[in-house]
Amino acid sequence: MDTSHKPFFYFLCFFVLSLFLGNRVVHGSTHHHHHHHVVGFRPTKLFVFGDSYADTGNTMKSFSSWKVPYGITFPGKPVGRFSDGRVWTDFLARFIGVKSPIPYRWRKVVEEKRLRNGMNFAYGGTGVFETLYPGPNMTTQIDFFQQLIKDSVYTTTDLNDSMALVSLSGNDYSTYTARNGSAQGWTSFITQVVNQLALNLKRIHGLGVKKLAVAALQPLGCLPSSTVLSSYQKCNETQNQLVSLHNLLLQQAVAKFNNETKDSTFVILDLYDAFINVINNKGGKPGSSKFENPLKPCCVGESSKYSCGSLDESGAKKYTVCDDRESAFFWDTVHPTQAGWRAVYVALHATLQQTLV
Ligand SMILES: *[C@@H]1O[C@H](CO)[C@@H](O)[C@H](O)[C@H]1NC(C)=O
Ligand SMILES: *[C@@H]1O[C@H](CO)[C@@H](O)[C@H](O)[C@H]1NC(C)=O
Ligand SMILES: *[C@@H]1O[C@H](CO)[C@@H](O)[C@H](O)[C@H]1NC(C)=O
Ligand SMILES: *[C@@H]1O[C@H](CO)[C@@H](O)[C@H](O)[C@H]1NC(C)=O
Ligand SMILES: *[C@@H]1O[C@H](CO)[C@@H](O)[C@H](O)[C@H]1NC(C)=O
Repeated sequence: MDTSHKPFFYFLCFFVLSLFLGNRVVHGSTHHHHHHHVVGFRPTKLFVFGDSYADTGNTMKSFSSWKVPYGITFPGKPVGRFSDGRVWTDFLARFIGVKSPIPYRWRKVVEEKRLRNGMNFAYGGTGVFETLYPGPNMTTQIDFFQQLIKDSVYTTTDLNDSMALVSLSGNDYSTYTARNGSAQGWTSFITQVVNQLALNLKRIHGLGVKKLAVAALQPLGCLPSSTVLSSYQKCNETQNQLVSLHNLLLQQAVAKFNNETKDSTFVILDLYDAFINVINNKGGKPGSSKFENPLKPCCVGESSKYSCGSLDESGAKKYTVCDDRESAFFWDTVHPTQAGWRAVYVALHATLQQTLV
C-alpha cells in the first residue's frame, strides 16, 4: 500500500469498525482493536494533564461543559466535555488502543478495572500557573498523580507501559491578557510559562512515564473568541506570532531533553499546524468537502451577554446551534466540535505513527 494513504486507510478502518461497534470502541469495549497502530512501544495506559481541550469530565458542574447542548453528539448529554462530543483525549486514546481514561474525579466511584486505562487529570480553565478560573494548575494535577503512585494505585510496571498527554497554556495567556496585557511583558511571560511547563514535563518523566506527547499550543488568534472581531474571517496574526514563540521555546526544551535522555521520550504533537491545515483544508477532513466556514462556531450566544448553553432568568435558551455540526470546525468560541477534533486527529495521524514507536 502506498504509505501516504495509510492514515486515511486506518481512519477508514476505524470508521467502518465504529459503525459496527458504535461507541464501544472508545467507551465500552475491553478489546484493544488499535494496537496495530503503534509498532514499537505499546502503552496500555494514558495519563492526561491539561485544560478543557483534554478534560473529559473533571471540572465543576457550574462550567458550561455540564450544560445542554454540550455532549449533544456524544454521548447525547452533557458529561463535562467542552464540545458537542469527543475531544482530543478520546481520539488519542483511540489511537493507542485504550479506552479513554477516566476523569480523576470519578476514580473512587468507578470499578477498579476502569483505572487500568490510566487517568485524566485535565481540568477545563486551568493552566501551568493560576488562571482566572478555579481548578488545579498543572503542578497540582501532577501532585494528584504522584499521590496515586504513592498509594500504589499505579505500580512501576504500570508506569513503564504508560504514556502521557500534556495539553495546555492557552488559559495562562488569556489570564495574562486579562490581568496585565502589557505588550512588552509578553516575551518574558511566555518564557516563564514554557520554563515551568518544561519542569513539569521532566517531573512526569521522573515519576516513570515512558513517553510524553506534548501538544504545541493551538493558534489562539484563530479561535472564534478572537476572529469574532473580523466576523470570523481572519485569524489574529499578532496573537499567532506570540503562540509561535511559545511553540518554538517548547520545541527547543523538548529537543534538549531528548538529547539528554538519548531517546525520543518527548514528542511534540503540533496542534498549531494541525489547526491551520484543517482551517485551510490541507490534509483536513478526508473524503469530504471542507468545513463551511472553519472559523465560525456552531453554538453561539444570541448576544455578547450570552454564550453557548446560556439560559435567561426564565430558563429560555439564549444561544443557537448550527444545523450541521459535522460541517463546523469550532463548537463554541474556543473549542472544536467532535468533527473538528477528528479532522485534527487525522491531520496528526502521520506524526503519531512516525513518532509514537
Ligand atoms: C499551583 O497551585 C498551587 C496551589 O494553589 C500553588 O501553591 C502553586 O504555587 C501553583 N503553582 C504554580 C506553578 O503556579
Ligand atoms: C519496561 O519496558 C521495557 C519495554 O518497553 C522492557 O524491556 C522492560 O523490561 C520494562 N521494565 C520493567 C521494570 O517493567
Ligand atoms: C505586568 O507586566 C509588566 C511588564 O512585564 C510587569 O513589570 C508587571 O509586574 C506585570 N504585572 C502583573 C500584575 O503581573
Ligand atoms: C489582535 O490581538 C491583539 C492582541 O490581543 C490586539 O491588540 C489587536 O487589536 C487584535 N487585532 C485585531 C485585528 O483584532
Ligand atoms: C546534544 O548533546 C551533546 C552532548 O551530549 C551536545 O554536544 C549537543 O550540542 C547537544 N545538542 C543539542 C541540540 O542540544
